[in-house]
Amino acid sequence: MTVIVNYGALESGTDLKELLRSEGLIIIRRANLSLNQFKALAESLGTPLKTEKHTVHDYVQIVSNKGLFEDKEVDWHNDWSYGRGKYHGTILCNVNSGHLANTIFADMAKAPKELKEKYKKEYGEYFPPQELHDKCFTEKQIKLLKKMRVRRPFVFTHNDLEILYCSLGTTDKDFSDVREWADTYNYEHYWRPGDILIWDNLRMMHKRPAFKGERTLWRVQFEIENAPI
Ligand SMILES: [Fe+2]
Repeated sequence: MTVIVNYGALESGTDLKELLRSEGLIIIRRANLSLNQFKALAESLGTPLKTEKHTVHDYVQIVSNKGLFEDKEVDWHNDWSYGRGKYHGTILCNVNSGHLANTIFADMAKAPKELKEKYKKEYGEYFPPQELHDKCFTEKQIKLLKKMRVRRPFVFTHNDLEILYCSLGTTDKDFSDVREWADTYNYEHYWRPGDILIWDNLRMMHKRPAFKGERTLWRVQFEIENAPI
């Protein structure tokens, strides 16, 4: 489910796109990148998606205790489950004190067959949780998201894998069985200085606990060719 690469080893021909396709989550250690180096790395993965709030650049967002998501718990989700945009992948860079909150991932390609069978014919409707409205979106975005009422199939095939997609924190249905599985079978990332995470956002549901202190990460979301939704 995860692969660990040292940043220094990337120039010898590591194919990050291929690794992302096969593993779903990549951990890059010892990166310590400037903003421009981080942008170049993000652009090598796909087409970066522009964003409006909490940015240091037109597509690099700041995730911090003072801005996006602040310091509260963020429940299980897939990024932008409620938007129609092509948010296929996410790259996140530890700028300052990432270790104050671990990021936890559930590989939804590995969800049990029984759960996939159970939800195969169903669709989920997604909308941002109320507490994020003011912090993460412009008024215009919220209006647009309400109008869109994004629906997605719970089960779809992606990179030859059957994925159970249900972004628990952004849908109003209760999936206690999926939650129980994800809470039990997950990878918990303990951030180190210089860490970068890259994940397949259709496949990896993730969450973060509340924390105290100053914590800053850079985030870019990007589109991957031939994604299913
Ligand atoms: Fe997220």
